[in-house]
Amino acid sequence: MSGSGTSGLLDPITVRGVTFRNRTVISPMQQYAGTPDGLPTDWHVRHLSTYAAGGAGLVFTEALGICPEGRLTWGDIGAWEDRQTAPLARLAEVIAAHGAVPGAQINHAGRKGSVQRPWHGFDPMSEADVAARGERPWPTVSASAIPANPGWPTPAAIDRDGIRRSLDQFAQATRRVREAGFQALNIHGAHGYLIHSFLSPLSNLREDEYGGSLENRMRYALEVADAARSEWPSDKPIFYRLSCVDDADGGWTLDETVTLARAFADHGVDVVDCSSGGLGRRTTTAVVRRVAGYQVPYAERVRRDTGLRTMAVGLIRDPQFADAVVREGRADFVAIGREALFNPHWPAQAAVALRGPDAFDDWPPAYGWWLKVRSRTLAVSEAAAE
Ligand SMILES: Cc1cc2nc3c(=O)[nH]c(=O)nc-3n(C[C@H](O)[C@H](O)[C@H](O)COP(=O)(O)O)c2cc1C
Repeated sequence: MSGSGTSGLLDPITVRGVTFRNRTVISPMQQYAGTPDGLPTDWHVRHLSTYAAGGAGLVFTEALGICPEGRLTWGDIGAWEDRQTAPLARLAEVIAAHGAVPGAQINHAGRKGSVQRPWHGFDPMSEADVAARGERPWPTVSASAIPANPGWPTPAAIDRDGIRRSLDQFAQATRRVREAGFQALNIHGAHGYLIHSFLSPLSNLREDEYGGSLENRMRYALEVADAARSEWPSDKPIFYRLSCVDDADGGWTLDETVTLARAFADHGVDVVDCSSGGLGRRTTTAVVRRVAGYQVPYAERVRRDTGLRTMAVGLIRDPQFADAVVREGRADFVAIGREALFNPHWPAQAAVALRGPDAFDDWPPAYGWWLKVRSRTLAVSEAAAE
């Protein structure tokens, strides 16, 4: 494995045949800005291209639904039919045009689908949403017929045919993002969506070969990895996002994450993307105090115990901290989410913070040339003020 302890945030890394110019990743972030038939809009082009121009090594799209009912909201975009490929290719193109690796995340929302956009309440859709926005709820599926939260609609327990169909949908969505030109794939196995619902003993009460023992609960997650790998070239990496611990007692544990990650090695997965929580309403863990880098210990443990590469995410904002996470061998990639919403140039600014004004040479010259000159002017004026 490359990068253990000697490389930092700004150093390149190669996984399979793909080289990333640095270790900063833009975490997948849904924008709820797609068309009702799941196509991206100009907003997505602006959103993703800005992060690439801002210096990230890898920019992931938001979760792309593998089927219409695998979306969370009517604003989600997807990769469930071939006419979505060309608009997705535009997203890959604008990311690559600015030197970042274009990555795509694929997802089935399971029992957490059919909800309102966050700013409309994030609750299950109802007739009120039909009246307000013409947005109709749809029936959901999950590992077992257990609602995500008290009072939420009960999902249907997905049957064998449904499982087979969903695996084919994961494979076909992977084919489409491959054809669209994405270079890294992220399978969303976290935050309470369909894959996570199989992993956690709180949401999986199945009595067939997909439920009960850890081996059985892991089966669907590994089958999804196989389905995706069957359509994903051997020279391109697969990231797999996991909720490394559940946000409730009796749930999925870090030890189980380590066991699953060990199995990943034989199923074509290269990087474990270490998130947490979200089995129910909340999308990240509530049991761990949310301090800077609160999920880094998961990435560190998985990396140490499995030898797989990991990605750390969660309230990471300080460049020195992010650099130390990589240098100390706690993770190979560091992802930022909301900090990128606040400051899309965070990766390039982190480079200046860690390397000084010469790092402006790596910015797009239309910005970098001016900012480097300004940094000299500022240094002179600050020296004069002392
Ligand atoms: C607006 C928004 C949308 C998100 N959408 C997704 C998503 O599509 N897929 C996913 O895996 N995580 C999603 N997340 C979680 C982020 O990827 C990230 O893991 C989380 O925000 C923690 O990182 P941060 O503290 O740097 O924001 C989303 C987060 C935000 C703020």
